[in-house]
Amino acid sequence: MTRNLPYDTKDIQEKDKRHVLHPWHDLTTAREVDPFVVAEAENIHVLDSDGNKYIDGIGGMWCVNIGYGRDEMAQAVADQIRRMPYYSPFGAQTSPPHAELGARLAEHAPGDLNTVFFSTGGSTANDSAIRFVQFYFNATGRPEKKHIITRDQAYHGSTFLAASLCGKREDRANFDFITETVHHLSAPNPYRRAEGLSVEDYCDALVAELEAKIREIGPEKVACFIAEPVLASGGVIVPPPGYHRRTLEVCRKYDVIYISDEVVTGFGRLGHIFSSEPEFDIVPDIITCAKGLTSGYVPLGATIISDRLYDRLGGGKVERAVFSNGFTYSGHPVACAAGLANLDIMDREDICAHVREIGPYFQERMKTLLDLPIVGDVRGSHLMACFECVADKETKAPMAPEIGVGRRVDDHCQNRGLLLRPLGHLCVLSPPLPITEPQIDRLIGIIRESIEATVADLRAEGLWNG
Ligand SMILES: Cc1ncc(COP(=O)(O)O)c(C=O)c1O
Repeated sequence: MTRNLPYDTKDIQEKDKRHVLHPWHDLTTAREVDPFVVAEAENIHVLDSDGNKYIDGIGGMWCVNIGYGRDEMAQAVADQIRRMPYYSPFGAQTSPPHAELGARLAEHAPGDLNTVFFSTGGSTANDSAIRFVQFYFNATGRPEKKHIITRDQAYHGSTFLAASLCGKREDRANFDFITETVHHLSAPNPYRRAEGLSVEDYCDALVAELEAKIREIGPEKVACFIAEPVLASGGVIVPPPGYHRRTLEVCRKYDVIYISDEVVTGFGRLGHIFSSEPEFDIVPDIITCAKGLTSGYVPLGATIISDRLYDRLGGGKVERAVFSNGFTYSGHPVACAAGLANLDIMDREDICAHVREIGPYFQERMKTLLDLPIVGDVRGSHLMACFECVADKETKAPMAPEIGVGRRVDDHCQNRGLLLRPLGHLCVLSPPLPITEPQIDRLIGIIRESIEATVADLRAEGLWNG
């Protein structure tokens, strides 16, 4: 179904190719490859500039949680712009939406996580979390606690500090990173555990790996551990049961701060505003969030800090307690107004309950793809999912990167009206949360046909003969 839209696609593409550098843009071909122009959107669909309509299987970028085209969001943003678009948040200055959203997030956050520092997105939320940890240990007389533990396949953002916490090897070429104080553990991926190892024993090994790493560095030097509850762009990796609770216990044992990066898993994606406690049985020391916080309508990030940490610093307990970290747009009134409207919509429509109800259906339907000859694993939780394409299901050998299997599946999906996110031999999905069962059925049907078409292509081109 194509709609008439008033865009000059060629003109947009030419301007973009000549003048715009995108995140993860491949400069080898950037001046030649026509970008895909997404021009309009409604509910769970986007339209390209030629009027072709697609199911947005990735929710923008794991972020358009309430779906597109919400007038209430437009109204909240417009009202705030008219009232007061901006004033400095530095020091003891605030605005009504800034204070109100801080209070609303503290209500939803678990345990004693009651203090919110606002930033501009997930990267700055994580960057600020680490800067707060550094500030905390320096101010409380333990400046040697500097080391950060993270995991392979993690994604925590693109500031210099946040990028250094990432664990995706393929993103490391030609960039510099902080390496002296950042340590990577294995990704907790049960599908990739050693042959013959039970999931329970695998979990034991992962927890032991964290403890061994802390002891190797020296607990007095380890500041924090940062973890996504479900590793998102690393391939929707759901750790073994008990992993988060047990890693948190190890952190507590050695006075290591636990940061839960809920940039993707927050705001309903796993059926709760924050998933750390209800899904993973942990109350971390710090939670970071962004994306679904405004459903991507405007940029906003937040770092939510426990009283246990904050109270060691506040009220004159330490000298030089100025938290000299922040952004012109920290707590931006317009972004906070969008955050409040987003929460209102989520509450009123009980979107989290909808996700808890429909999530198992989505996962069950995704699992039906496992009968396809190149689908080695299907994994996920609620409205986050991934399928992994392998050359051999028995040995789990991934498809060679040069085959570009994810991109091929994505191309076929696109021709059939669905956008998903290819990542090498993986394809990830995180649709807008109001998705319905019939829409899920259509999405799965398109993926099945597209994988079948990809298999046919690979066979015809002599690239795969399984
Ligand atoms: C888990 C996680 N943390 C942090 C980020 C960085 O967020 P942003 O791109 O808003 O800076 C992302 C982005 O995809 C993410 O997936």
